[in-house]
Amino acid sequence: MKNIVLTGFMGAGKSSVGKKLSEMLGLAVVDTDDVIEKDSGMDIEEIFSRLGEVRFREMEKEAVKKVSSLKNHIIITGGGVVLDKENLRNLRKNGVIVFLHASPETIYNRVRNETHRPLLQVKNPLEKIVELLEYRESFYANNDLQIDTENLSITGVAEEIKKRLEI
Ligand code: S3P
Repeated sequence: MKNIVLTGFMGAGKSSVGKKLSEMLGLAVVDTDDVIEKDSGMDIEEIFSRLGEVRFREMEKEAVKKVSSLKNHIIITGGGVVLDKENLRNLRKNGVIVFLHASPETIYNRVRNETHRPLLQVKNPLEKIVELLEYRESFYANNDLQIDTENLSITGVAEEIKKRLEI
């Protein structure tokens, strides 16, 4: 079976849905952010603050290459993976790209009390979310299947993916 690759903005539910799908389908799950943290021995915040976003994106690209060679996996990606065309090309080799869509307000409500996302540690996170989403819209559009998560539970999203991929 092809990998199921989850893309989408921070707080769109990629991690929760990925875990749910892995349980439902009995497939292993891997997360590009976890691969980066494990390989570097640093957490994402530390990488951003010590090395900067540009270096983080390079590390992310390596992590994507690594997970792209896997088979039969659920692959959870960081929200910015789609910004690099080659990342999507690699992930598509063995996988189908599933984009989880959520509105800025929903995203804001999910991330407002969290502190581990460096890009959202700003004075006005909602404004930042809107701005980033606008810029990234065309990048997220590079997908094989789009799921609107707005009115669905985590299980609901996982079931919808299963149904739409005819698994
Ligand atoms: C990022 C999303 C994060 C993480 C990093 C950058 C982004 O992952 O990779 O903070 O650029 O959208 P999640 O989408 O899992 O929060």
